[in-house]
Amino acid sequence: MTATIISGKEVASQIRSELKQEVDQLIQQGVQPGLAVILVGDDPASHSYVKGKEKASIELNFYSEVHRLSADVSEQEVLSLIDRFNRDPKIHGILVQLPLPAHISEKAVIQAIDPQKDVDGFHPVNVGNLYTGLPAFLPCTPHGVIQMLKRSGVQIAGKNAVVIGRSNIVGKPMAQLLLAENATVTICHSRTKDLTSFTKQADILVAAVGRAGTVTADMVKPGAAVVDVGVNRVDGKLVGDCLFDEVSQVAGLITPVPGGVGPMTITMLMYNTVESAKRSLV
Ligand code: GUN
Repeated sequence: MTATIISGKEVASQIRSELKQEVDQLIQQGVQPGLAVILVGDDPASHSYVKGKEKASIELNFYSEVHRLSADVSEQEVLSLIDRFNRDPKIHGILVQLPLPAHISEKAVIQAIDPQKDVDGFHPVNVGNLYTGLPAFLPCTPHGVIQMLKRSGVQIAGKNAVVIGRSNIVGKPMAQLLLAENATVTICHSRTKDLTSFTKQADILVAAVGRAGTVTADMVKPGAAVVDVGVNRVDGKLVGDCLFDEVSQVAGLITPVPGGVGPMTITMLMYNTVESAKRSLV
């Protein structure tokens, strides 16, 4: 069996064209969605992600501000900038690209963002709202995964879902979103014993570890939907956490790397910013 490949590019472009219509409507009603992005330091991957976010904002006709700050900027300067954006009615979404340099507290920065503008969904208020079923900004990567599954016709309710990885950005919220969709969810991580015994049960398997070669064909239930969130560079080539060539012989559906989950993350950020702008109408 050869798996059907879920193209993140296609799903992302479908959602972006839906968003474009919403943005046109909002602008007619006098609200242009505004996104502010703060980037600290010189990490090339972060610069590339932020460039993608800026490009998508401009393509969707958002009001866009990107602040690229040097690696030695003080925490107070970052907090002051966030405070300015919190009070700026042109800005509906604020994103601070992670990771931050060691001298800046990630916790302090995330908590300084107004939860109503926290389009990453990282503020404890949004995390708590998600966990208790209250309206929240959903973290972009896991929300993108849910959209890919749903728009590819994957039934989530009642299925066994296994998430490998327990980060605050992907693993934990991914498990919570699958639970909210009524899957039976297991979280596996670096200390899990006999990983295969769990992954073999998965109708939906999400790999979010950040280590190439984590998921091999013998770990996958035939016909499973396999979502690869990993982004790893091996011999200069971008690969996921799954051994794509062999896993795609067993899985029913699989997302590639690149061109899978990646394009969805930015799209769901745009989605959250539009949602935030819509809230400002009422
Ligand atoms: N770094 C890696 N992924 C993300 C993300 O989704 N949001 C932010 N702010 N930083 C990140």
